Amino acid sequence: MAEKDNNEVYILAIESSCDDTSAAVMLGDTVLSNVTASQAVHEQYGGVVPELASRAHELNIVPVVDAALKKAGVGKEQLSAIAFTRGPGLMGSLLVGVSFAKGLAASLGIPMIDVNHLQGHIMAHFIKEQGVEPHVPEYPFLCLMVSGGNSQIVKVNSYKDMEIVGQTIDDAAGEALDKCAKIMGLGYPGGPIIDRLAREGDAKAYTFSKPHIPGYDYSFSGLKTSFLYTLRKLVAEDADYVDKHKNDLAASFERTVVEVLMDKLYKASKALKIKRIALSGGVSANTALRAAYADYAKRYGWEIYIPKFGFTTDNAAMIGIVGYHKYLDKDFCEMDKPVFTRTVL
Ligand code: KG4
Repeated sequence: MAEKDNNEVYILAIESSCDDTSAAVMLGDTVLSNVTASQAVHEQYGGVVPELASRAHELNIVPVVDAALKKAGVGKEQLSAIAFTRGPGLMGSLLVGVSFAKGLAASLGIPMIDVNHLQGHIMAHFIKEQGVEPHVPEYPFLCLMVSGGNSQIVKVNSYKDMEIVGQTIDDAAGEALDKCAKIMGLGYPGGPIIDRLAREGDAKAYTFSKPHIPGYDYSFSGLKTSFLYTLRKLVAEDADYVDKHKNDLAASFERTVVEVLMDKLYKASKALKIKRIALSGGVSANTALRAAYADYAKRYGWEIYIPKFGFTTDNAAMIGIVGYHKYLDKDFCEMDKPVFTRTVL
């Protein structure tokens, strides 16, 4: 393969690990397009239905890739490589993106690059946009990765050297917010609904029991149970209780989740003497969590990094940025490398 100038490296990236079908075209580390089709079909079930997710990916993958190439103004023949999420995620969902990526790469005779979805979330901080001044952390930095499936504190030494400092031993933070919304009979995904309701609520109205887990690990399942039991008692006395108090309930639950997240992050930052603190994953959109970051930055001199909203939720540009770094390292993937479903970093 002939060496290319970095400015000529075009990478098509594909993400299909859960319920978003996404394709991006990168020129080096700059994103040219990032197109995502979300799947509304899951809303009526209150959560992602894996079988339906794979079917929706099958329908979406060709138009999404086509749209990403057209938006970027890049032809298939210009591509240098194809990067794809190999895991973790839902087996059926991953297989659609991976099979498509492998087939297209083979037909074009270009390398394939497998990317870990979680590494992608963290590296989203390094995606550049045309005409936008980049704000990227220097290594090493700590990243709080909070999504519907993960809650981790990661020490990032380089794009390929990441250490998990702490992680949830049961539910993820996003999952806890989604379940809290479900208990209150609100829609799915619950995180953004809780966020919206909490803005009009009193965050100190209720106290829910916090987990006592040693080290830097998290636990959110006890908090969810504490919320459920508190609510059961209140609803038994007044059937309309949730409706009358949903803002305060949402604000108090959200405050507790944010306090738990920030407490361990602060301890890890202190112990590891790292003040460059990044945030990634879908929950990073949360208003209270962002406010807590700004507050800690002021109080403790943290340098904080929060990617643009479109790069925090599942998207292919974050897969493309890892793909670009692996491309420079000539770290390519063989055709027979299988998908993986479980969390590894
Ligand atoms: O990273 P993500 O898009 O998907 C994965 O789980 O990989 O994260 C989705 C999670 C969901 O639990 C959703 O409720 C939560 O992020 N979320 C939020 C907000 N927006 C999305 N949680 C709190 N506040 C938000 N504004």
